Amino acid sequence: MTHKIAILPGDGIGPEIVDEAVKVLDCLQQEHGFKAELEMAAIGGAAYDESGHPLPETTLALCKSADAVLLGAVGGPQYESLERELRPERGLLGLRSELELFSNLRPAILYPQLASASSLKPEIVSGLDIMIVRELTGGIYFGKPRGIRSLESGEREGYNTLVYAEHEIERIAHSAFSVAMKRNKKVCSVDKANVLEVSELWREVMIRVSKDYPDVELSHMYVDNASMQLVKWPKQFDVMVTKNMFGDILSDTAAMLTGSIGMLPSASLDKTGKGMYEPIHGSAPDIAGTNTANPLATILSVAMMLRYSLNAPELANKIEQSVSKVLDQGLRTQDIADGDEYVTTVDMGDAVVAALKN
Ligand code: IPM
Ligand code: MG
Repeated sequence: MTHKIAILPGDGIGPEIVDEAVKVLDCLQQEHGFKAELEMAAIGGAAYDESGHPLPETTLALCKSADAVLLGAVGGPQYESLERELRPERGLLGLRSELELFSNLRPAILYPQLASASSLKPEIVSGLDIMIVRELTGGIYFGKPRGIRSLESGEREGYNTLVYAEHEIERIAHSAFSVAMKRNKKVCSVDKANVLEVSELWREVMIRVSKDYPDVELSHMYVDNASMQLVKWPKQFDVMVTKNMFGDILSDTAAMLTGSIGMLPSASLDKTGKGMYEPIHGSAPDIAGTNTANPLATILSVAMMLRYSLNAPELANKIEQSVSKVLDQGLRTQDIADGDEYVTTVDMGDAVVAALKN
């Protein structure tokens, strides 16, 4: 079976890191019997430059017809003055919403080889393995009404709406519990039920859905406490499930516990398991074009793609083992290097490919 994969390099370091991930996909095709047809398309600022829109129709059509999407990163300072609808981020948000990718899986794993990269004490983070399940197509990111309006006083007022329908909470709950079933069977639902009605409903639905998963232990935590607990004793968590904006914030904290945001992949899935895969980090315009970005998060995103959308877990394992091998060999890009010695983006990609061949 030939898989159709849409490749969206995007902006900043996006094209450089995606090139390395494509090398890995090519190697799987040459050496491991994997069959795929890769098709490139523009997204974000790059698409705006080319065609005047961050999510061109052709890109959207390609992504809809593909079995999976691999994305680099979007955004850059040159686009910040564009009107909101034309900004690179709208391309990404549009794809999430158009493809109904409501379930965002963001693992935070500390590679033992990189224990010293964390700013926290080793005993706090060693062995860390958390999965944040972030709702991705609802909540305040998409709620209406939204805008900036003028009041009678002449002053302006900005407003957004935090809204969740029961079915949206239900499906993300099922995602989180299913993920937990394959892990340590613990789900912590993070909300702000002491203040927000929407969180009250969120909690109620989480409890209801949890009855379908009697083996999973469900707990609840307010988001302010959760942000504190993540830094205090992160190993208490297995799966955390939360709303779109809380997940945005907590997943950056969780990623940084590992000290290496350049290492972390993510998956955004629809109800059939079709997905978009991207590194957690952004487009890093400050280092774009310097061949210093870490391609491992994007390469590990390919592993997630193989596991979650393309039904090739053994190839996913191979990629992850190859990444571990190059870390064992001492290879480090600048972001995870201890001192001044580091390898380039291309060297790192080549090393993973070499490890994959063995
Ligand atoms: C993320 C990013 C995006 C988000 C931005 C780029 C729109 O921060 O994927 O976490 O806020 O969801
Ligand atoms: Mg974010």
